[in-house]
Amino acid sequence: MKIKLKKINRLSECSKNDIIKWVQWLNDKEVTKYSEQRFKKHTNLSQIKFIKSKLKDKKSFLFKIIFDNKFIGIIELGNIDNQHLNCEIMYIIGEQKYWSKGIGTIAINLALKIAKKNKIKKVYAGIYSNNSQSIKVLKKNNFKLEGEISNYFNYTTQKKIIRISKIILGLNLK
Ligand SMILES: CC(C)(COP(=O)(O)OP(=O)(O)OC[C@H]1O[C@@H](n2cnc3c(N)ncnc32)[C@H](O)[C@@H]1OP(=O)(O)O)[C@@H](O)C(=O)NCCC(=O)NCCS
Repeated sequence: MKIKLKKINRLSECSKNDIIKWVQWLNDKEVTKYSEQRFKKHTNLSQIKFIKSKLKDKKSFLFKIIFDNKFIGIIELGNIDNQHLNCEIMYIIGEQKYWSKGIGTIAINLALKIAKKNKIKKVYAGIYSNNSQSIKVLKKNNFKLEGEISNYFNYTTQKKIIRISKIILGLNLK
């Protein structure tokens, strides 16, 4: 499988089509049902603002996930702490037709290699405890369950809103 991560260093590296796609993913309630993005209305303009703020943020590396030369998702190493050498990992494959093909697992693995090159010793993810796909991709990359905050998120089912834990999965890098 041909999967690459392409670091976004400049706004010009995101074409108009890239931004349109990205906005569609973020406005897709199925894609964002385990994410805070579902509470916002995303537009091309808000997305450009977001990219600009990330480019200024020294604590974040933002990458496009490229599969067969197509832009299909985003992965971020964020909240990079250069004192303590840790960071958070966040990801989204926006095109649902590419889910469950192993792409997320490989994309995370590539991001971990970059974290390692940057001397990071700890990578963690904070996720909804019912996000089974996300738990799987992390565990396939050797992340372990390291914590749980109960009763943390509101999660909307078809019938009602239920309360869900936030779980923290972590990986120690050598
Ligand atoms: C989470 C995400 C990145 C995973 O990417 P992916 O390419 O689908 O992941 P993979 O195919 O590598 O692995 C997913 C695994 O979950 C499994 N899976 C898929 N749907 C599932 C479900 N509803 N319940 C349990 N497991 C499920 C797949 O079968 C696969 O496991 P396997 O390799 O043992 O078969 C992707 O689904 C996504 O972007 N989701 C929406 C955004 C999101 O939730 N981001 C994370 C926020 S923390």
